[in-house]
Amino acid sequence: MNGTSAPPWRILVINGPNLNLLGRRETGIYGAMTLADIESACRRKAESLGVEIDFHQSNHEGELVERIQAAMGVVDGIIINPAAYTHTSIAIRDALLAVNLPVMEVHLSNIHRREAFRHHSYISDIAEGVIAGLGADGYLYALDAVVRHLVARVGP
Ligand code: DQA
Repeated sequence: MNGTSAPPWRILVINGPNLNLLGRRETGIYGAMTLADIESACRRKAESLGVEIDFHQSNHEGELVERIQAAMGVVDGIIINPAAYTHTSIAIRDALLAVNLPVMEVHLSNIHRREAFRHHSYISDIAEGVIAGLGADGYLYALDAVVRHLVARVGP
């Protein structure tokens, strides 16, 4: 929450390992947009929705955990693409549970259409929603979804 649980809401967008290489990394799977392009698109979308966003990427699990912890009581919702940590990190799952904020999980690729080890996510069952396979647009849909979730929580 932002302290008042009232708008303007603040949304934290977190990206995990190797997503700093977007635009150069396996572009057939992840697309041509860079992370900076995605951040700009998210900032434009956030402005149109009247919310504030923080955008963060790290290749380090502990740093991601610390960024999530720092969101406690400061942020109203989290959009996260944990990248490879999706499939391995109980620490990121526990951090998300600890801060008790609505979470939207995003993947650029459809992880269910890929290798079996990508089918399991440590995050999906604690997320409000999961968006996978819709490329960079997934972040924008997640922003819409988190705002709709917050609006519904506040009520008419
Ligand atoms: C990813 C899917 C993960 O399996 C992979 O490790 C990534 C990116 C995606 O956005 O499609 O790094 O989270």
